[in-house]
Amino acid sequence: MAGLIPRQFIDDLLARTDIVELVDRHVPLKKAGKNYQACCPFHTEKSPSFTVSADKQFYHCFGCGAHGNAISFVMEYERLDFVDAIEELAAQLNLEVPREETKLTPAQQQQQQQALQQKQDDYQLMEKISHFYQQQLKSSSDKERVINYLKGRGLTGQIVKTFGIGYIGDSWDGMMKVFATNATITTQLVDLGMAIQGDKNRPYDRFRGRIMFPIRDKRGRVIGFGGRIIDEGTPKYLNSPETRIYHKGRELYGLYEAKQANKNLQRLVVVEGYMDVVALAQHGINYAVASLGTSTTEEQLQTLFRTVKEVICCYDGDRAGRDAAWRAMDNALPLIRDGYTLKFVFLPDGEDPDSLIRAQGQQAFEKLLTNAKPLSKFLFEHLLAQVDINSLEGKASLIEQFQPYLKKLPESTLKDAILTELANNFGTGNEQQLAKLNKLSKNTHKLPTIKIDTKITPVRMAIALLLEQPQLANEINSTLALAQLDTPGIPLLVELLELCKENPNINSAQILEHYRDSKKGRQLAKLLCWQHYVSKDTAKEVFLDSIEKLFADFIKKRTEVLLQKGRTGQITLAEKQELQTLLNNAN
Ligand code: CTP
Ligand code: MN
Repeated sequence: MAGLIPRQFIDDLLARTDIVELVDRHVPLKKAGKNYQACCPFHTEKSPSFTVSADKQFYHCFGCGAHGNAISFVMEYERLDFVDAIEELAAQLNLEVPREETKLTPAQQQQQQQALQQKQDDYQLMEKISHFYQQQLKSSSDKERVINYLKGRGLTGQIVKTFGIGYIGDSWDGMMKVFATNATITTQLVDLGMAIQGDKNRPYDRFRGRIMFPIRDKRGRVIGFGGRIIDEGTPKYLNSPETRIYHKGRELYGLYEAKQANKNLQRLVVVEGYMDVVALAQHGINYAVASLGTSTTEEQLQTLFRTVKEVICCYDGDRAGRDAAWRAMDNALPLIRDGYTLKFVFLPDGEDPDSLIRAQGQQAFEKLLTNAKPLSKFLFEHLLAQVDINSLEGKASLIEQFQPYLKKLPESTLKDAILTELANNFGTGNEQQLAKLNKLSKNTHKLPTIKIDTKITPVRMAIALLLEQPQLANEINSTLALAQLDTPGIPLLVELLELCKENPNINSAQILEHYRDSKKGRQLAKLLCWQHYVSKDTAKEVFLDSIEKLFADFIKKRTEVLLQKGRTGQITLAEKQELQTLLNNAN
């Protein structure tokens, strides 16, 4: 199992990636003073408040509060998790991401090794079974009937092959008798959902007498199956259960095939069924996927929006279809920032994408996609249907209706447009209502905002300057005396000084990285964003002044405490001596 990514590698990556270059590739930057600026890619704005600092190797938006180093930018912009963002940055530098040797006991190591081996075995076995089903399609005694069925549904041999569609005859052990050659494999087949363990009987084939659709993960590995009965019968479809390699809510049927067919995938259509995906591909729409459950999960939507910027959900026009669409929309809202769109197509009663494209062809279906209902329209239709817009109460309740959805939506052109449209619905003279809505619907969900407290304290100043110029740490010989002070913020300052001393070439972005996702990290980010107007040339002087001020403040406070104790007669001999020293030094 892969160990952690070594801290040293992450530091190197940050040292070798220039954040200005990185951001500029996605968001063209303009030089403004010593920094670079652009309109923020994470919210909508007309004048630029998104700033990138070459010195600090840090970006910050004064509008929405987005901020961070190169890794954070890749995570936010490309919607990647931490590890994937590291992989991405490493790939740009042609580097392999190393993994630490895991510090496990030999027993744990063996266990991990076994789990890894198990997974590889699982994938291999599923692949072999998929091949076997495909072969059965051509060689079983029912082959004529099966092939006629597929032909009858308008599929060519080519598309059947592309999707790896197969068949298994109707017997209890069609697959088992070929694969379950020993007890270990038998158990494995049960674990993978391919066989069912009866009470006492031997495990038997889950899928019998069915057309088999292999479900592949995004790397093309077969992780499960859907099986359709030929002609009539119940249940019409049978699916693999959740297993150690198959997690329904995470996968999308047809995504691998869509990616294979399109080097430059622009949009994806989400449909309900296996046959819809395959039939659409048969008719030239080779960019459809099916969510493998009743509704499209947030995880699936995330995968979709990581792959393309335009997602079109295609559902039945009936109640169930509209409900499914509404749930998908609700799950998608946090992901719809500028440049991303979600649209809906509702099909006429009794039709599904398969029947529709077979009856009307590719162009007609593409026309439906072109005319898909934008998210905003869907939202309005749905919510306006629930209130009487002509009454005052109705107008007032609109706010309540929209607020939860608007709140989930990142600040974007879409959101602005929805707010404007709402304002139109209120009519004129309702500025107050709108202001209220505006306030209530602020998205507080996604990006952590930074509120910069402008109160300048010596600790804040010292930390802010140290973050920008970590080499200032060398000006402090020892942190011992400093560590004695009980001023708030001192522990963090001392910790930073030590970190910078130990790593003489550390830069701001690397320091931030050491504190990712921690309270200290947020405090530091705040200070890094803070505009203190201390120039580079005077930084050292101001830094040392701040440290001196810390001591001076401490001495003043301590002196007062001791004098007070002296006045009330509670002072010890040692404290008397301390007071004497303090007073002498002060003069
Ligand atoms: N489904 C399922 N189990 C069922 C029925 C349906 O898992 N008993 C899932 C399948 O993924 C199926 C999808 O729901 O593809 C849509 O179901 P339905 O509209 O009933 O089937 P179609 O996809 O239209 O299949 P066909 O055209 O082959 O009848
Ligand atoms: Mn159908």
